[in-house]
Amino acid sequence: MKIIIEKAKVSDVAQIHKIVNSFAKKNLMLPRVLNDIYERLPEFFVIRNDKKQKIIGCAALHITWTGKKDEVYAEIRSLAIKKVFQGKGFGRRLVQYLEKEAKKLGVKKIFALTFVPQFFKKLGYKIISRDILPHKVWTECINCPLFMNCKEIPVMKSLY
Ligand SMILES: CC(C)(COP(=O)(O)OP(=O)(O)OC[C@H]1O[C@@H](n2cnc3c(N)ncnc32)[C@H](O)[C@@H]1OP(=O)(O)O)[C@@H](O)C(=O)NCCC(=O)NCCS
Repeated sequence: MKIIIEKAKVSDVAQIHKIVNSFAKKNLMLPRVLNDIYERLPEFFVIRNDKKQKIIGCAALHITWTGKKDEVYAEIRSLAIKKVFQGKGFGRRLVQYLEKEAKKLGVKKIFALTFVPQFFKKLGYKIISRDILPHKVWTECINCPLFMNCKEIPVMKSLY
């Protein structure tokens, strides 16, 4: 089975919506509405078997400017690998692909807000204090069902 990682297409949106919200229902990650995925499609990547349209997993790379000249962070969002494909290294490959994409853009630091910091630690990320991240990172939180009881842990990695 040849695995490819590529930018998501319009035809992938329904599958991305299904996989992300199936885990969101279990409070494993933030839910995403269809409109948000369509409008942020250029941020999304999928990993799949090159012969099939069905996706194995997805993730998004969101760029955040800190307000300081050329200080830009990349955020890994909506990272999800279908249950049957978990534990086979696909999550690692997708994150490493996003790191390369961020590096190509000249981004120096990449972070994620996660319930699985152990997974990211295996990939060289460190747990950081929330204060390190620009305030606007938290703007989406107000819409999150877990807002008042957020247990997401910020992890970050330097790309250089
Ligand atoms: C978390 C997730 C993306 C990991 O993807 P995956 O393909 O199963 O992970 P990989 O097989 O690439 O694992 C890479 C390493 O991390 C470890 N790992 C994977 N998931 C882990 C977890 N939940 N806790 C601790 N370690 C984990 C693996 O054991 C592996 O370690 P190794 O290199 O020593 O063998 C996937 O399990 C998933 O989609 N979970 C549900 C949604 C979710 O939690 N998304 C993350 C939102 S930030």
